[in-house]
Amino acid sequence: MILTDDEKAMRDGADGPAVAAAMDLLIRYGEALGAEKLCDTRNVAGTSTQPSPVKAKLVAEGGWNKAFAVLNLDCDDVVEIPDMRVPTCQLQQGFGPDSVGVVPYPKEFVELQSDAEAFYGRRGVNILATCTPYQVGNLPVRGEHCAWMESSAVVYANSVLGARTNCEGGTSTGAASLTGKIPCWGNHLPENRFGTHLVEVDAGVRDFMDWGMLGYFAGGLVQDERPVVTGAFPRPDLVDLKHFGAAAASSGGVELYHLPGITPEAPTVEAAFRGPTPSAVHYGLRERREVYETLNDQGRSTDVDFVLLGCPHASIDQIRAAARALDGKRLHSGTQLWIMTPRALKAVADRSGYTAVIEAAGGRLLADSCPAMSRVAPPGTRVFATDSAKQAHYLPAILGIEAWFGSLEDCVDAAVTGRWRGDLR
Ligand code: F3S
Repeated sequence: MILTDDEKAMRDGADGPAVAAAMDLLIRYGEALGAEKLCDTRNVAGTSTQPSPVKAKLVAEGGWNKAFAVLNLDCDDVVEIPDMRVPTCQLQQGFGPDSVGVVPYPKEFVELQSDAEAFYGRRGVNILATCTPYQVGNLPVRGEHCAWMESSAVVYANSVLGARTNCEGGTSTGAASLTGKIPCWGNHLPENRFGTHLVEVDAGVRDFMDWGMLGYFAGGLVQDERPVVTGAFPRPDLVDLKHFGAAAASSGGVELYHLPGITPEAPTVEAAFRGPTPSAVHYGLRERREVYETLNDQGRSTDVDFVLLGCPHASIDQIRAAARALDGKRLHSGTQLWIMTPRALKAVADRSGYTAVIEAAGGRLLADSCPAMSRVAPPGTRVFATDSAKQAHYLPAILGIEAWFGSLEDCVDAAVTGRWRGDLR
């Protein structure tokens, strides 16, 4: 790999042993990937504060310096971790202290995470604590090289913002934070950003539930390649594209898509492809019905114990819509409702009165995490309902529970009646 003088100096220890370990890791990682060089980045999004049993053990042995060295630098030595060299944010993590008594999340993990926030926060990690950093101030510009984790955030950054990031891991983001470098391969290279498949929408895309189903279809079709989606649909907004990308990254491994005339790197269908435009795969009412049935094939009992909204973390408009649907209602005695959102947006919801409406109905607006990330649901949950294709895809396998997928209205109805009565309209 070709290294610049500053990269060689970091590797050779000019900025201390932690930075040298970080550069060593990036060189090994880049060479394994066949990268010819490193890119400069000033935008890293990782998960260093996320609690785990392994992290607890490392902290007990050698403090947070050891935990970061082992888990984020692949280094066995205990090295002093300096300030992050470039802007770095924490993505989703475990639940925080305000969840104790509300969410059955281990208290020792809450305490470990509070310790982690103190350690990393002092070193320059912004604790955004969300899978949607782009909703709360981390908005990379078009062409900006980033080092982000979290598949739903990566696909949004690449596709909607035109930033450039691969789906990184805990070690590479840790090393990127200390060096401002990341291997230059994959989505960082312009030649890898053209579409591979054309999806023509004939009908059936109206709201964010539909965008989730369309994303699920596109991801299943292209797997880890790049769909270009065109046809008959109204102009999508942030929420629609948040759900489209998260679903496409769940049924497949999509990290980049184009919507000609909407996303920034595809002014036209022709521009979205490097060569000839491939023949289209059609998505219409039949395909929509098939995706809906696939996402509901893990539901048996219609008695719903738990309703989950906000995956990826809810926008303020989604919170408002949920509050309006719940206004004046009361949840079924056997059903819990959690709505996940970034902590910064929870503050807005609190001030706007939405949280009070949701709580008056018996629901909860929760920050920082989600059931899939923290592997928790209300005690005794056997059947859950959600408006998220991503959560319907993953949570049954993670928690061994049944799933129903539907609209926000169907989910609120399930929370209020305790019954799943959803259907595709
Ligand atoms: Fe976010 Fe959890 Fe969904 S991290 S994208 S709410 S699975």
